[in-house]
Amino acid sequence: MTALGFSLFQLFFQLQPCFAVTGYQANMLYADLMASYNERVRPVQNQDQELTVSAAFNLISILELEESIQKLSIYGYFMLSWKDEFLVWNASQYGGLYSVEFPEDEVWKPVVVLSNGYGGFNVLGENFVKVTVKNNGTATWNPGDVFESTCFIDITYYPFDTQVCELHFSIWSQGMDEVKMKPIFPDIVKSDFQENGEWRLLEAWMRTDETYSRSNIIISLKVQRRPKFFILESLIPIVLLSLLNTFVFLIPYHSGEKISFSVTVYVAYGVYLSNVSSSLPHNSLHISALTVYLICMLTLSVIATFFVALETRYFFSIKEQLSEAAAKDVYNNHNDEKHIYNDSSARIRTNHLWTNLKKMNVTLFWIFIVADFGVSIGFFLYLRNQA
Ligand SMILES: *[C@@H]1O[C@H](CO)[C@@H](O)[C@H](O)[C@H]1NC(C)=O
Ligand SMILES: *[C@@H]1O[C@H](CO)[C@@H](O)[C@H](O)[C@H]1NC(C)=O
Repeated sequence: MTALGFSLFQLFFQLQPCFAVTGYQANMLYADLMASYNERVRPVQNQDQELTVSAAFNLISILELEESIQKLSIYGYFMLSWKDEFLVWNASQYGGLYSVEFPEDEVWKPVVVLSNGYGGFNVLGENFVKVTVKNNGTATWNPGDVFESTCFIDITYYPFDTQVCELHFSIWSQGMDEVKMKPIFPDIVKSDFQENGEWRLLEAWMRTDETYSRSNIIISLKVQRRPKFFILESLIPIVLLSLLNTFVFLIPYHSGEKISFSVTVYVAYGVYLSNVSSSLPHNSLHISALTVYLICMLTLSVIATFFVALETRYFFSIKEQLSEAAAKDVYNNHNDEKHIYNDSSARIRTNHLWTNLKKMNVTLFWIFIVADFGVSIGFFLYLRNQA
């Protein structure tokens, strides 16, 4: 629209010098130009010659990049120009009218199709977009749209990932020898660009790829995820959860909460795992490091639960032995003094078991702290190498 407004402004400006164009002259010009014009004919005098369409692309915004369905949506418009050899006139014969506009279906225009579109073919053009033609035959056409393309997303380094997405625009139904599209300059115009909250645009460029049978222009966008939201929403809670995994060894046995505590930690990991995997593409080509990390943490939490179960079992068997010893104690006090020696040896034995259990608990606590931190630090180093 801005481009359209701009060309209207240009038109108005060019009407200004010395004498005004009358409506009659403008009508005459349209009638004369259209008298023998056929919009189906490629606008070159020598039909063996190819027609070159110069293209620039103005990117207005990246609407979204949905990783779970691998779809990129952008908003922008093309600035296409070519020379229409049938729309040439002597401006001074028409009162100095240098530029006219045609509805896009009344003059020849290239059929440009987004060939890797997400929901089928996307043909450039809207009824309201006009083709502006200068008196020397230069035609400009600025069709814009929301373009949705498929984009293969590699989520290995999620949420510190960088993606490159391509949009393939081809000249449909006309061969390379008839119509050729070429970029005016390799950069994408970003004068109207509005930032996206989730993705930072690192680079945007366009090129042609001669290996295709159709003339085409490939627009590539390199975007980087802004990770702050995911760090706050997923990473920090997951790392905190790994601390919780070790705290199970600090809970006293007789509270009877150890097992339920470590199972709760396991369930919490499961919830995060399903949360993360629901926002990632469901394919097996790339597995995100975050998923692997979560599975490692899940495994650690299962191992912790196993040791806690062993410890609890051990604890209750010591308790049983103690109560047996206590029962013996009562019995011995009632009978002869000779057995006191045996009785104290049982007590020494259970005391020994207690210390073993405590030692085992402290050792497990440190082992799990080292394992949890080791896995977490390894995960972050792996991600940082890429970021
Ligand atoms: C355009 O028309 C004017 C007036 O009729 C004439 O003087 C001039 O030579 C023409 N120019 C061309 C390039 O034909
Ligand atoms: C046609 O005229 C415009 C200015 O009015 C100029 O920018 C353009 O280069 C010209 N094109 C050709 C093919 O002469």
